[in-house]
Amino acid sequence: MCGICCVVSLSLSRCSLHDHVYETLHRRGPDRSRDVTASSSNPEYSCLFSAHVLHMRGSPTPQPLQDDHGNLLLWNGEVFGGLAVEPEENDTQVVLSRLSACKSPSAVLSVLGQVKGPWAIIYYQKEEHCVWFGRDFFGRRSLLWSWGADERSFTLTSVSSHSSDLRCLEVPAVGVYRVDLKSWTERESLKVDVYSWELTDSDFTWEGFPSSVSFVLNHSGLSSPVLPMNMSVTEVEPNSCNSSHTSLDDLKELLKSTGKRETVRRLIDVLGEAVRRRVQHLPHQSHPHQAQVAILFSGGIDSMILAVLADRYIPPDRSIDLLNVAFKLQEPKKNRGSGKKGQNNKKERETHAVTTSLQTHFDVPDRITGRDGLRELTALSPGRKWNFVEINVTQEELKEMRMKNICHLVYPLDTVLDDSIGCAVWFAARGSGLVSEGEAAQRQHNSTAKVVLTGIGADEQLAGYSRHRVRFKTSGLQGLVKELAMELGRISSRNLGRDDRIIADHGKEARFPYLDEDVVSFLNTLPVWEKADLSLPRGLGEKLLLRLAAAELGLGPSAVLPKRAMQFGSRIAKLENSREKASEKCSRLIAS
Ligand SMILES: *[C@@H]1O[C@H](CO)[C@@H](O)[C@H](O)[C@H]1NC(C)=O
Ligand SMILES: *[C@@H]1O[C@H](CO)[C@@H](O)[C@H](O)[C@H]1NC(C)=O
Ligand SMILES: *[C@@H]1O[C@H](CO)[C@@H](O)[C@H](O)[C@H]1NC(C)=O
Ligand SMILES: *[C@@H]1O[C@H](CO)[C@@H](O)[C@H](O)[C@H]1NC(C)=O
Ligand SMILES: *[C@@H]1O[C@H](CO)[C@@H](O)[C@H](O)[C@H]1NC(C)=O
Repeated sequence: MCGICCVVSLSLSRCSLHDHVYETLHRRGPDRSRDVTASSSNPEYSCLFSAHVLHMRGSPTPQPLQDDHGNLLLWNGEVFGGLAVEPEENDTQVVLSRLSACKSPSAVLSVLGQVKGPWAIIYYQKEEHCVWFGRDFFGRRSLLWSWGADERSFTLTSVSSHSSDLRCLEVPAVGVYRVDLKSWTERESLKVDVYSWELTDSDFTWEGFPSSVSFVLNHSGLSSPVLPMNMSVTEVEPNSCNSSHTSLDDLKELLKSTGKRETVRRLIDVLGEAVRRRVQHLPHQSHPHQAQVAILFSGGIDSMILAVLADRYIPPDRSIDLLNVAFKLQEPKKNRGSGKKGQNNKKERETHAVTTSLQTHFDVPDRITGRDGLRELTALSPGRKWNFVEINVTQEELKEMRMKNICHLVYPLDTVLDDSIGCAVWFAARGSGLVSEGEAAQRQHNSTAKVVLTGIGADEQLAGYSRHRVRFKTSGLQGLVKELAMELGRISSRNLGRDDRIIADHGKEARFPYLDEDVVSFLNTLPVWEKADLSLPRGLGEKLLLRLAAAELGLGPSAVLPKRAMQFGSRIAKLENSREKASEKCSRLIAS
């Protein structure tokens, strides 16, 4: 993970970067920072490239990386497949040498279209006076842009600052962009060529951009790294399930009866391979048993499956950090009457009763399921040292860190939901909490793992959200499959850019196995009814295929836990005004 940035200006005066933005970039790539400028007098422009590298493996490769022709690459990515990277090679170098050899725009597109893995890129072609930039198909790495007030300059950056005068937007992950600086100097306005991914929605609208910028969409040349979604909705025999209560036995029964075992095994294979690529060849730790991999861990099915698969591929003497975040529960009195709507209500009240009687303020729902999950993992893999890191966050610390760091990282997103998830993920990924040793003893544990696995993408692809049930009820399979396609299309702007900025702030790298190209292609080829069956009860029907995989992998009760969103599971939503809507703009994010 790196922090990358470039400032382009149609003048020869030195480009500069806001100090706070520079610091925030440096937190993403603490191992090596370098600035390089490039300028030209005819056409007249200057560029500042600033790169901050987090060293992951191999010998350190400083960035911006320059080739013999003066082309410059800023690469914030990981090549997990597509382009051959030999063990002794560095992916940044491989990408640059492939790009250097390109003689035309279509050649550049062909290289980028082959990469499997997350990336954000800025690439300067000196001879051609062009700046290329963009994000991978899903938008797993952040990239923001902003325009100077004079409209004669622009900035691209992994992360910005809420309080700076840079007004930013996320670069939409709809394709690869190219700016011809020569033609810009010759016209009044900036023309941006957009080479869109084959499968993206062609109706994309460019909202919020200055009117002096025009986007010219070119549909040819950039092939999508994933197969298209199977939109087939032929009605099938519904799965039968007699009980309205879900149990592990129902799941095991389904696994036996439905002839789904083959599909389940294929899912386990492809997801296992995605996890393997993300947990192997990691930087050495000073301590040989220290964890190199951490998992954002609620004990829910998505994170449990990641843990079981990671366990297969991580050497048995390495510990694995399970990061579990909880926000301090309010005093019982204050909570009364602030009942939440929805099915969680009864359960939440039950949990709450337990909490008051035990007097432990951090026993939030995700903490409780997390502990249960830990017990399942320990039973499955008793030789492994699982560090269940209990991360307790108080109201005071939340306020302090939100103002100091988190609000800048969430920016330019701005809703109540962005605030809740941004804060919860930031504290979880920091990895600083308590690990229980034996009966009563707890020790401070600061996770040093540079790789953080997250389960994002499972709910979007396998119909895990309650809105999917609503959609299914109102408009059937047809409606559901459309909803899933739409959600996968917008996951970059809803989640991924934000989560990347948040996690990278700790000098760690977010990795998303459920969004591996091969996993998505596999799930996309299946018809929707193989992935979920929303006629079955909660805890069973949503993400059915994944639950079957969990049963096949030997997981216990966690396989039938209903989905609980992180903002409720960690109780951060309870700390704040409970009358807020998740989609409202969040006033707490505005730095004073
Ligand atoms: C390439 O070098 C960068 C910077 O040192 C490092 O973070 C990355 O892990 C290396 N990649 C490979 C495949 O060795
Ligand atoms: C679109 O891009 C391709 C590949 O670079 C190029 O050959 C073609 O001329 C472009 N089309 C338009 C309309 O600009
Ligand atoms: C954090 O909360 C857990 C309860 O989930 C408790 O066991 C632990 O002692 C707490 N630690 C601190 C430092 O408050
Ligand atoms: C662990 O992290 C906490 C919070 O970030 C910090 O205050 C503390 O100094 C760290 N401890 C060690 C031993 O690094
Ligand atoms: C979509 O799913 C149906 C039903 O399993 C299958 O017959 C069809 O081949 C699939 N289509 C694609 C494009 O994979």
